Amino acid sequence: MTSTLELNSGHQIPVIGFGTSALAAPAESVAAALATGYRHVDTAQMYKNEEGVGQGLRASGVPRDEVFITTKLNNQFHEPADVHRTFAQSLERLGLETVDLFLIHWPMPELTVDYVDTWKAMVELRDSGRVASIGVSNFQEEHLERIIEATGVVPAVNQIEIHPYFANNELREFTKSHGIAVEAWSPLGKGAELSDPVIAELADRHGRTPAQVLLSWHLQRGDIVIPKTDAPQRMSENLDVTGLQLSEAEMASIDGLNNAEQVHGPPSTETSKD
Ligand SMILES: NC(=O)c1ccc[n+]([C@@H]2O[C@H](COP(=O)([O-])OP(=O)(O)OC[C@H]3O[C@@H](n4cnc5c(N)ncnc54)[C@H](OP(=O)(O)O)[C@@H]3O)[C@@H](O)[C@H]2O)c1
Repeated sequence: MTSTLELNSGHQIPVIGFGTSALAAPAESVAAALATGYRHVDTAQMYKNEEGVGQGLRASGVPRDEVFITTKLNNQFHEPADVHRTFAQSLERLGLETVDLFLIHWPMPELTVDYVDTWKAMVELRDSGRVASIGVSNFQEEHLERIIEATGVVPAVNQIEIHPYFANNELREFTKSHGIAVEAWSPLGKGAELSDPVIAELADRHGRTPAQVLLSWHLQRGDIVIPKTDAPQRMSENLDVTGLQLSEAEMASIDGLNNAEQVHGPPSTETSKD
């Protein structure tokens, strides 16, 4: 059973979720992940797989109220009317009456519609009872400050890029200082950091895998992780971090990898703001 963290909305979120962007077979993978024991699935309108996620959930036989489902608002739908309309479409595609968490995927300050107005529409959705918690993703300090100041409503979550080569410490600290839970996207650095010698040495030392070391680093920092994999064996590996405790010195050696390489460069198709 994955442990959970309490969001500022009072709802519990499992600290390990299953990332779904770019899955080859979303329905099959989500069903397999749930069978493995995941109870948190991260999707988005952008991923075009909400239908598959819903199918996987139903096929798994796991009761709906035991699974934490997140989806995200796509970038072209920031107008308040579009927030309402496309959220309803997301529910329809997922085959659900409610989701646990709805996020603004990117702040998109370049749009004519102000993300503060987008956030106000998110608050209306929450008040309608069809989404338990609302939050944001890829919001920087100034974006968080503006929505909080304008509405008084603090997001439950800020989902941001974090992995050892890009620890994102300032934004992470700022987010946490407002009582906002930090979710790390690309927690494995898209797989690129699994072969880092520091990580490999720690994996050897603990008799675990590099992925388990990376995920433990995040979890010991108090963040939520959403690793993605198509492979059932890796699904269980990524969930099975119980009993792996990194010492302070080991945590510090991973912290030392920050800025080792700028792997967060140009957005991939998945992170694309289109
Ligand atoms: N909010 C945002 O803007 C945003 C942006 C990016 C991602 N996300 C979310 O975060 C999730 C995770 O991020 P991500 O998919 O970019 O990257 P990631 O989870 O850091 O890494 C996924 C890569 O690592 C490989 N992998 C996974 N587990 C492994 C293991 N145990 N051993 C070896 N390789 C392993 C996967 O390959 P295989 O599939 O072949 O196993 C895949 O290539 C996404 O799926 C999405 O839900 C959100």
